Amino acid sequence: MDKIGFLGAGKMAQGILAAIDDRRRVLMAEKVEAVREAVRVKFGVKVTDDVAAIARECNLVFLAVRPNDVDEVAAAVKPLLKREQTLVSIVAGKTLAKLRKAFGPKVKIVRVMPNLALRVGEGMCAITPKNAKVEEILGAAGKTVVLKEKDFNAVTALSGSGPAYFAYMQKMMAAAGVKLGLKPSVAALLSAQTMYGTAKFLKENPIDLDEFIAGVCTKGGTTAAGMVHLGKAPFAKAVEKTLAAAAKRSAELAGA
Ligand SMILES: NC(=O)c1ccc[n+]([C@@H]2O[C@H](COP(=O)([O-])OP(=O)(O)OC[C@H]3O[C@@H](n4cnc5c(N)ncnc54)[C@H](OP(=O)(O)O)[C@@H]3O)[C@@H](O)[C@H]2O)c1
Repeated sequence: MDKIGFLGAGKMAQGILAAIDDRRRVLMAEKVEAVREAVRVKFGVKVTDDVAAIARECNLVFLAVRPNDVDEVAAAVKPLLKREQTLVSIVAGKTLAKLRKAFGPKVKIVRVMPNLALRVGEGMCAITPKNAKVEEILGAAGKTVVLKEKDFNAVTALSGSGPAYFAYMQKMMAAAGVKLGLKPSVAALLSAQTMYGTAKFLKENPIDLDEFIAGVCTKGGTTAAGMVHLGKAPFAKAVEKTLAAAAKRSAELAGA
């Protein structure tokens, strides 16, 4: 039975942890005392401030600190890592080559690009290379897909950063509703529930999106009148430019 370790017990680590049934198998290392205490109370797991303990005791280790903290953690654990262990990095922009350099030649390394929705069990994780244990753990926190590393900048731009784009759309829809005279609290509710309901409907009924849109757009009706504007090039171009800029930044970070 694998002992699962976490280097960093922040937002994303807690999202993965929430999907692990047997928490007796888990040991976390976290530098912030308040976070250690919060995780102990909320999840009932063992938490230490000593990253070396994770390298000594765990055979599957999630690297879940922010990119700037990776070198410090790597320096502490590199001499302890062994061939039988697997390091699973969820750190944006850290390529397999960079991780290999930082963590040494022995340990197996898997790179994952998750998103924030894994905190509610609906994450989207891209994994490279294929690893059955990692797929099983992350599969309990949402969907997984195994991809080549060359796709990771696009994945980062689409599903990694995607929650922020959808949240922005929700905010803009609510703001537009206020401009049409709705109370802000009502507009926020309408926008949030419409976003959630649409996502749920499309997940449960994976039909062609143009067909879905056509179904909402009665000829000569209200949605069709609105879609005339949304469907114009600036919106589609803005989405394209948004993802392209995020992918470019991801490539810059990966190359830096
Ligand atoms: N958030 C997202 O939507 C998202 C999406 C995809 C990928 N990711 C990746 O996921 C990783 C984690 O992100 P997050 O949002 O979970 O960050 P977070 O909430 O800040 O969690 C990281 C935690 O690790 C702690 N830490 C830092 N250095 C440490 C050390 N040497 N030893 C032990 N603990 C240490 C941090 O403490 P301090 O606060 O003191 O630094 C913090 O509590 C990042 O690398 C990010 O690129 C995040």
